Parts: sequence; structure tokens; C-alpha cells
Amino acid sequence: MNEDLFTENEALTFDDLLIVPGYTEVLPDQTDVSARLTRNILLGIPILSAAMDTVTEARSARLTRNILLGIPILSAAMDTVTEARLAIALAREGGLGIIHRNMPIERQAEEVDKVKRSESGMIVDPVTLSPSATLQDAEDLMANFHISGIPITQGKKGKLVGILTNRDLRFSSASDLKRPVSEFMTSRNLITAPVGTTLEQAKAILQQHRIEKLPLVDDEGDLKGLITVKDIQKKRDYPSAATDSKGRLLVGAAVGVGADLEARAGALVEKGVDVVAVDTAHGHSAGVLRAVERIKKNWPDLPVLAGNVVTPQGTDALIAAGADGIKVGVGSGSICTTRVISGAGMPQMTAIFECARAAHAKGIPIIADGGIKYSGDITKAIAAGADAVMLGGLLAGLDESPGELVLYEGRQFKQYRGMGSLGAIQGYGKDRYASGQGSGKLVPEGIEGIVPYRGTMHDYVYQLVGGLRSGMGYAGAATLDDLKNKTRLRRITNAGLIESHPHDVTITREAPNYQSRV
Ligand code: XMP
Repeated sequence: MNEDLFTENEALTFDDLLIVPGYTEVLPDQTDVSARLTRNILLGIPILSAAMDTVTEARSARLTRNILLGIPILSAAMDTVTEARLAIALAREGGLGIIHRNMPIERQAEEVDKVKRSESGMIVDPVTLSPSATLQDAEDLMANFHISGIPITQGKKGKLVGILTNRDLRFSSASDLKRPVSEFMTSRNLITAPVGTTLEQAKAILQQHRIEKLPLVDDEGDLKGLITVKDIQKKRDYPSAATDSKGRLLVGAAVGVGADLEARAGALVEKGVDVVAVDTAHGHSAGVLRAVERIKKNWPDLPVLAGNVVTPQGTDALIAAGADGIKVGVGSGSICTTRVISGAGMPQMTAIFECARAAHAKGIPIIADGGIKYSGDITKAIAAGADAVMLGGLLAGLDESPGELVLYEGRQFKQYRGMGSLGAIQGYGKDRYASGQGSGKLVPEGIEGIVPYRGTMHDYVYQLVGGLRSGMGYAGAATLDDLKNKTRLRRITNAGLIESHPHDVTITREAPNYQSRV
């Protein structure tokens, strides 16, 4: 990238710049948009011994926990954006959702659990019930986890004694709800398979017996996993899903810097969270640096994203504290008022460029967080050095977001609010913003509003990534690294920006990837 564009005494943002179309041999469809999110983390402690072959074996047993995404998109840790439903939808497309923390610890851990238990090929730790649980318990569990069957187990080791599926409940009535599941479950001629059964083998067994769920058991008959028809289908439907080594969808979760940090992080780790994000408005501060150190001390192998910063100094400090990925952006978000309320912040393209230069010198990726209005801004963010982007407003309008659908002047919208808005700041995430904490008076740094309804994640991500791929085609970049290295950016004037948007015409039909600003 032409670095001389960014000078010390001014700061630029997305609308100030455009990518200069250059010679290309790259077709958008052939571009590779996979992204690295965290530094390589070595897992496992090699135990060295005098015997040479043991040394070699121990070395090869080391694993890396390097989070790779199919698409460079994260969803914001905001209470109108990311809970389990949206995180599942985004991970299926190859991205990563960061579950917000404006809720009790147990609830956030449950949201992580829902993602890790959603379709994955094989469910390693299925939800179970004991034979004495009531039908009501079973119905609640099925509704909560959106599942259609529950293995029934007995005893500490979890001996499989039956399975309860929708089919078993077909003729049950309201009066049955208090009766034990043992009266309804299928227990005779239970079809099971041994641990180690592949998805292909499972598919054949499911087909042969015309069943939907296949419990995996060990030699003692204890339940060790579950393979379902739905999971096998989903694996085929979402070939580029972002998954962990066990095939489960990836998920991240936000943590704060307060006294409950260890309890929250511990609960998330227990549910298998893949990465935590220390989620604050000002990452270059003593409390945040300490928080990163506290996590790394307790869970050295857990990847940690930290932020937000907008300077090389802030980036370096977070890396020195142990962060594996840096979140960049202060006041750039669509719902943010930080810059006008406090007078502090940094236009986003300059922030990305300067932080990326510092982070990449140490092999650490950065995430450009906030201010992305159109798919072209994703291309520009990556050209300036971002490894991935975090989106709030663009995803808040999707079906899968938790915000409520509202009708306004005949059009559909969804609610979207800043985590520093008056409504949100009174919840669990209030330590995200430092102001007003001592006196009890709140000084908001965000607003509450609505964004246009944008349909499903699947269709919308296609448009977002399609725009990125198209930009890579114009830049002649086959990969995201190429985009960072090869792209030339050019400063434009306000007249240039006006020319960039549709002008001198009344839009009669909205495109799926362009909406007039609200
Ligand atoms: P977008 O532009 O994608 O931005 O909607 C989402 C990002 O904005 C940040 N955020 C806030 N910043 N006040 C702020 O100054 C707020 O109330 C607020 N809430 C969220 C956050 O980094 C998010 O990912």
C-alpha cells in the first residue's frame, strides 16, 4: 500500500479514500478471502526426556491454536447484535460471532454452549436427561437448545438407557407433562454406534434404520457423542463454516475488566469458548492491560483479542500484555458518540493503518472495529492493513440478531443501540465506559436507534463478501495479504464522494447491497 498517503498531522477515514483500479489477472470468484485472527499459540507443554525418540514424539504432539476464518468478518459484542443465533449463522458462513456480555455470567456461558452444541458433525457433549426427568423438562430443553431429541442417560458415567425424540412425543397430551420421560423414550432395540464412527458410516446407519439420531457409546455403553441427520446435512450446506478441531462451530465472547473477569472467563472456557475479547472503549489503559495479563496468567492457551486502541503505542502495550489480536477503533461506530461527547478518537483508516503497522511487526493480526457502512469499506479496511473487520450496525438488521423488528413509516427496521447508550450502560457492561462510574451518574457515549431490516445472514454475507471479492478484483489481489500489500489508495474530495454514490437520480428499486443512509 502507498504508505505516504498517511501523514502524521491528519487522519483519514473510509470516505476520504478509494482503491485505485490496477492491472489484474484476478477474477473475483477466484479470490481467497480466508483470514487469520490470532497469533499462533502453541498448545501443550513438550515434556523433554533423555530418550531421543520421546523428545521427538513430544515435539510433534504440540498443537497450534491459530484461529483461521473463512471470511474476514466478526460480529460486534453488542446486545442488539450477537447472541447464539447470530453467532451460529455467522460461523456457518466462515466468520466469528463475539457474544456480548450485557448479561449474567451463566447466561453468556449458555449462549456459548448453544453455539458449540449446534450442528457440528458430531456433538461431543450432548444435552441429556435422566429417566426420571419429566416430559415438561424434556420439552423445555428441546425448545431452549432448538433440538428435536435427547439421549436419556443414567448414573455418573452416563449409561445410555434410551432416546427421546419428537416422534415419541407426537401423541402426548398436556396431562403427560408431569410423567417421567422413561415412559415415553425409545429404549428397546436402540441403534447405537461405537466411538470413532465416521460421518459417512453414521450416514449409512441412519439411512438403513430410518432414524434421525445416532448415539455413540463406548464399550461400557456410556454415551460419548451424538450424530444427527441434521448435522450431516448442515455440514454439506455450509462447507466453509468456521470450525474447531472437533468440527464444532467457532465462537468468541466478550469479557470486561472488573472483579468478575476470572469468574466470567472461567465459565466461558468451561463451555468451550474459542477466543475471548476484552471489550472496552479505551484499551490503552492500565485496567485493560492488567485484564489481558490476568486472563493470560490463568489461561495461557486461550486466544485473547483486546482493545479498542487507535495508536501504535496502544497496540504495542496490548501486545506486551499478551493480546493475540488487537481491536482497532475509537468512536467510529455508527451508534457512537464518543468523539463528540469526549472530543477524543481517530478516523478509522488512519487508525487501522498505524495500528496494523505496529501489530504486524510483531506478527499480531488486527480487527478493524466500527464504521463499516458498505462492503467497499471492508475492502478499504483490509487494504489499509486490517486482517478482519468487526460489524455492528450492518448485522443488527438481520433476521438472526436479537433486536426487535419494528415498523416505521411503512418499512421494516430492527432496533440497534450502542453499548454506551443510556439503555445499555445500566447493565452488566457498564465498565466498558469509565465515565460516571464513581458518582453513579451516567455519561452515555452512544445512542439507541433502528437500522433497516436486511434479511438473512446467508444472503447478506454473500453480498458483503461479494463486494470484497469485487474490490480485490479491481486491486489485482488474489488473497487478503495481496490486498494489503499491492493496493494503491487515493485521497478523494467531497465532490468525489458525492460522485461515488448514486446521484441525480431517484432510486426506484433498492439493491440488496446498497441502501440510502438513514
Ligand atoms: P458499527 O459502525 O459497525 O460499529 O455499528 C460497531 C462498534 O461500535 C463500538 N460501539 C460503541 N462505541 N459508543 C461508542 O463509542 C457506544 O455506545 C458503542 N457501542 C458499540 C463497538 O466497538 C462496536 O463493535
